[in-house]
Amino acid sequence: MVENKNGNMPLVKVEHLKKYFPVGGDFFGRNQVYIHAVDDVSFEIQHGKSLALVGESGCGKTTTGKLLTRLYDPTDGHIFLADNQDGGGLVDMASLKGKELKHYRQRVQMIFQDPYESLNPRLTIYDAVAEPLTVQGIGTTPEREFKVAQLLEQVGLTPASSFMFRYPHELSGGQRQRVAIARALVINPDFIVADEPTSMLDVSIRTGVMNLMSELAQKLNVSYLYITHDLAVARYSSDDIAVMYMGKVVERGNTEEVLANPLHPYTRALISAVPIPDPMYKRPDPAILGSISKPINPKPRCRFYDRCPLAVKVCEESLHPPLEDKGDGHYVACYLV
Ligand SMILES: Nc1ncnc2c1ncn2[C@@H]1O[C@H](COP(=O)(O)OP(=O)(O)OP(=O)(O)O)[C@@H](O)[C@H]1O
Ligand SMILES: [Mg+2]
Repeated sequence: MVENKNGNMPLVKVEHLKKYFPVGGDFFGRNQVYIHAVDDVSFEIQHGKSLALVGESGCGKTTTGKLLTRLYDPTDGHIFLADNQDGGGLVDMASLKGKELKHYRQRVQMIFQDPYESLNPRLTIYDAVAEPLTVQGIGTTPEREFKVAQLLEQVGLTPASSFMFRYPHELSGGQRQRVAIARALVINPDFIVADEPTSMLDVSIRTGVMNLMSELAQKLNVSYLYITHDLAVARYSSDDIAVMYMGKVVERGNTEEVLANPLHPYTRALISAVPIPDPMYKRPDPAILGSISKPINPKPRCRFYDRCPLAVKVCEESLHPPLEDKGDGHYVACYLV
């Protein structure tokens, strides 16, 4: 059992989470190297709150999401989830197996980026949404029908009866993502990992889907880990934000606070790279050198060293800096801040 310093129990508490993917190497594992996709990541999500995980392509967002839903087994670290059975402590989900893992899967769901790939084309909408209930053996057939119809209405697919027995190919991208949301919610999860849920949708329908997700979060008391590379989406969707760079969280805190007062040189560069909707405004070039590479057997120093415009000797010679609280829960991992 772990408590944070206020004595409030978080819903999710991730500690020192790691996922290393072996690549290369021969049959005997010689010359094997490791991609440090997620490298010592820690964060908390409070009940009913959402956390945005942001960063450039390849920084480890999806891998973190897949660890939290246990689609991947962690290399190391802990994923604590508040125990909803005895109302008490936190249970470490990182090492669960069998029946306990099945119970956990009921509480944590994932919504994927591509609504065209995430639904089985051979299942009707009813079957797709009801599948988690069937797999978990929850409810009788009439109860399942009632629940699915109710959720389809809640996600705006009305009247539900006109969608139940259609197939994914008969629906638009936005409608399919609404089906994926209904499916994620059908077993009353406490926590949803949403991996870029609107990035493949037409701009014109993105806001609708985002609004729907936040409305349902409030109504059904679910929390999100909201994965996005878009800071505007992060701002819209989440109370807190964590900025990832090459497998590390380099800054985290309240979303408004971090975006208004970014402290890490990487976050500053990301914010200056956000388009500003004024065609007359000439943006300064982001103060960031080169482009991201893969964290294959990375040097132990600061991961941002090679691209950092501020880097000095201490950054080169010391280990990757720890996340430190700079006040009011605004954490930064940088020797120069
Ligand atoms: N199954 C895998 N095997 C080997 N390497 C992987 C695997 N999955 C991811 N990686 C590597 O791990 C790193 C992190 O990938 P991940 O998909 O988590 O990034 P991401 O932040 O979600 O990127 P994007 O914004 O493009 O979706 C990348 O370098 C990627 O190439
Ligand atoms: Mg991804």
